[in-house]
Amino acid sequence: MIIKVCVGSSCHLKGSYDVIEQMKAIIKKYDVEDLVDLQAGFCLGFCSQGVTVKVEEIEAPKVEQISDGELFIHNVNKDNAEEIFAKEIYPLLNL
Ligand code: FES
Repeated sequence: MIIKVCVGSSCHLKGSYDVIEQMKAIIKKYDVEDLVDLQAGFCLGFCSQGVTVKVEEIEAPKVEQISDGELFIHNVNKDNAEEIFAKEIYPLLNL
């Protein structure tokens, strides 16, 4: 699974760097470093809803909001990153 945090200019201003740092720590805490590739990505096209995070290469069974193995998550910040990871991303790992 790839977690791509937008570092486009709008998301950057809204704290992309903090989200990346927080995600790094969360991925380590949940001990899924071997399963998750954390990347920075260019503008994902949802600038007004940033910070935007795109989860790619999801192999979970069909979940409604996922299409083509991709999931977009909006309004991510350093304070809600762990809750979002726990509720929306971690279950997609099918562990
Ligand atoms: S700058 Fe992040 S979605 Fe456009």
